[in-house]
Amino acid sequence: MRVLVTGSNGLIGSEAVIYFDKLGADVLGVDNNMRATFFGADGDTRWNQRRLETSTRRFRHVELDIRDRGAVLELLATEPVDLIVHCAAQPSHDLAAKMPFEDFDVNAVGTLNLLEGTRRHRPDAVFVLTSTNKVYGDSPNELPLTELPTRWEYTRPEDFDGIPETCRIDRTLHSLFGASKVAADVLAQEYGRYFQMKVGIFRGGCLTGPPHSGVELHGFLSYLVKCAMTGTTYRIYGYKGKQVRDNIHSLDVLRAIHRFYEAPRPGEVYNIGGGRGNSCSILEAAQRVEELGGGRLKTEYVDTPRRGDHICYISNLSKLREHYPGWDISVSLDAILREIIEGWSRRTRPV
Ligand SMILES: NC(=O)c1ccc[n+]([C@@H]2O[C@H](COP(=O)([O-])OP(=O)(O)OC[C@H]3O[C@@H](n4cnc5c(N)ncnc54)[C@H](O)[C@@H]3O)[C@@H](O)[C@H]2O)c1
Repeated sequence: MRVLVTGSNGLIGSEAVIYFDKLGADVLGVDNNMRATFFGADGDTRWNQRRLETSTRRFRHVELDIRDRGAVLELLATEPVDLIVHCAAQPSHDLAAKMPFEDFDVNAVGTLNLLEGTRRHRPDAVFVLTSTNKVYGDSPNELPLTELPTRWEYTRPEDFDGIPETCRIDRTLHSLFGASKVAADVLAQEYGRYFQMKVGIFRGGCLTGPPHSGVELHGFLSYLVKCAMTGTTYRIYGYKGKQVRDNIHSLDVLRAIHRFYEAPRPGEVYNIGGGRGNSCSILEAAQRVEELGGGRLKTEYVDTPRRGDHICYISNLSKLREHYPGWDISVSLDAILREIIEGWSRRTRPV
């Protein structure tokens, strides 16, 4: 099996490299460390690239910018691949407004380069796009919510399992990031439906794990734990810190991508997140991190929410479970938090 992973220095990309390397695949990773351009030194991913190069068996790194159309087409023409896991992205909702051209060029145009390169040179390969729940914009906020002591909760019993793939993606506030990801998401669906290619789209909730170079603008749990462990003040933006996120370990994302590779369905869209079982609010996450020995989180409250932020987002996993029986969440929220605490304690010196 030959796998091409884009964004291989990042959280999901590096998990993909390790996952398929362990299965004995030849893995080619594409990354240009653009996360450091987006987020500064804290977003630097070279440490993760070095980790991959020393801990894997047949991994090869290719320094390539997915915006470079010629280089992407050339790569797909020369490298035979069976699976493409496309994770390279500008991943921040808030940052996109400051870098609209870079955001769209990486997220939308970079995805088009890869899809078209795959169609021209590797039409039988399976292509997986890591999309996002931000394609729904703020339409999930239209569901009636009830305020509980530590979190917002869906009011109606029919919403209990969370947001399904049928949620509206237009006529809603996305942020420029959400819009560039919608472009990539719809393009990928089209390569599946129009060209009958084996393309799958996975719309992530909060994807997380120890190799996250968490920063304030991206990587909720990773950044929260880092703040708790280093005594850094964590800013809570609105909704009283009761906004809910569902958190999935990157390993469980890869297990789903692997199932899709084994039995692809062209142009299919799946929500993927931690589901109800792995959901927590900021207040609940801070409490649990402290209980697990990660330290007490210092917070500062900013009364204005992030524009278009979800108040309560839980991924409805029914479709994924139905199409791929046997796949389910295997890493609990507590296990995720323990791993992130351990990961940061190796990378930072707690105060
Ligand atoms: N982490 C999350 O919570 C989350 C949630 C929903 C969706 N997603 C999606 O999952 C995917 C992976 O996210 P992640 O958390 O691993 O992000 P990440 O920032 O950790 O990794 C992305 C990687 O892509 C690389 N990259 C960026 N631009 C590039 C370019 N032009 N050419 C080559 N490489 C480039 C970066 O250097 C980085 O290593 C993204 O598509 C993101 O939108 C992530």
